[in-house]
Amino acid sequence: MKKIPQMEPWFDEKERTAMAEYLKGDAWLTEFKKTEEFAGMIAGFTGAKHCIIVNNGTISLTLALLTAGLQPGDEVIVPDLTMIASANCAKMIGAKPVFADIEKKTLCLDLEKAEEKLTPKTRALIYVSYNGRCGDINAVKNFCGKNNLFFLEDAAQSLGSCYGKTHLGRIGDIGSFSFSVPKVITTGQGGALITDNDKTAETLKRIKDFGRTRGGIDLHDFIGYNSKFTDLQAVIGIEQMKKLPSRIKRKKEICRLYIKLLSQIPEVELIPTNLDETLLWFIDIYVPDPDKLQVFLKEKGIGTRRDYPPIHSQKAYNLNEHYPVTEDYSSRGLWIPSSSKLTDDDIKYVCGCISEFYKNNKSGS
Ligand SMILES: Cc1ncc(COP(=O)(O)O)c(C=O)c1O
Repeated sequence: MKKIPQMEPWFDEKERTAMAEYLKGDAWLTEFKKTEEFAGMIAGFTGAKHCIIVNNGTISLTLALLTAGLQPGDEVIVPDLTMIASANCAKMIGAKPVFADIEKKTLCLDLEKAEEKLTPKTRALIYVSYNGRCGDINAVKNFCGKNNLFFLEDAAQSLGSCYGKTHLGRIGDIGSFSFSVPKVITTGQGGALITDNDKTAETLKRIKDFGRTRGGIDLHDFIGYNSKFTDLQAVIGIEQMKKLPSRIKRKKEICRLYIKLLSQIPEVELIPTNLDETLLWFIDIYVPDPDKLQVFLKEKGIGTRRDYPPIHSQKAYNLNEHYPVTEDYSSRGLWIPSSSKLTDDDIKYVCGCISEFYKNNKSGS
């Protein structure tokens, strides 16, 4: 039986050759010229003035909060539906993530709900462009400006997605990306921060390098950490970035075919999405019985992944709070195969199996 994974990293001869070439030369392995080149490619692709590469997309968020001067006890507004790192980055520096519900239209933070969470301690807002979508992000920017909040865009899932013509991650004070394995391009682990602000970029560069005054000398006038990347990963990242435009094109074709086929299955809810601006990270469906569908698809060789549980309900937080939209979508969400490697036949097979499940299982029970 053919196996179709929910997501997979993929490479070809280009990565293998580039790595062999790099290792033949004067390879210091740690971050240097290859990392600078990779950063330049991301800045160029997103249109940002600066890009700083770090070791992952959790540390990137943490460093962004530190750069903004957040202190222990400060409050940070975070959507309840996101990958847990969006909240944990606040915890890492002793700040408090304060959760707010999402809007149905985009599954991103609901600004009206966020407003209800403002207190005199609120210092920052993390807007997650969930699954590559975003809501009225200009309104979020105005809201942050009016309330004197640091606006951090967690665009970990959004490389390739825009708001109008502006790449996501560029509207906030800082935008953060991840290159972990399931992303559209990957370096195994990796993160990037983008900003147009020279001073912010300078602080980020220093804070990821032990707070060094400049490279190569051991003078430190503030506390920094080691969140450096490696040129080994950057060699892969450069080749992956070259593939990004064709992957985006293919992923959009995949989305369009999925939407056409899935729209014919009444039990499947899709979030209407403008695919001209949005690159969906994963194909997300909302169904009455995602666990049963997941088991059924597994038997057919199809990999899926359940949507994240609401963060407030995770044991790590265990808050007695209630966010109905998050709870509803999280309880019904299933990510189906979403790799840019999928063929049209794979997609037809996946949709055929989902259709078969509901034909045999009319009541969804
Ligand atoms: C929204 C979001 N934020 C942060 C992260 C953390 O990124 P990383 O796994 O690179 O630490 C992820 C990872 O998937 C994510 O989806």
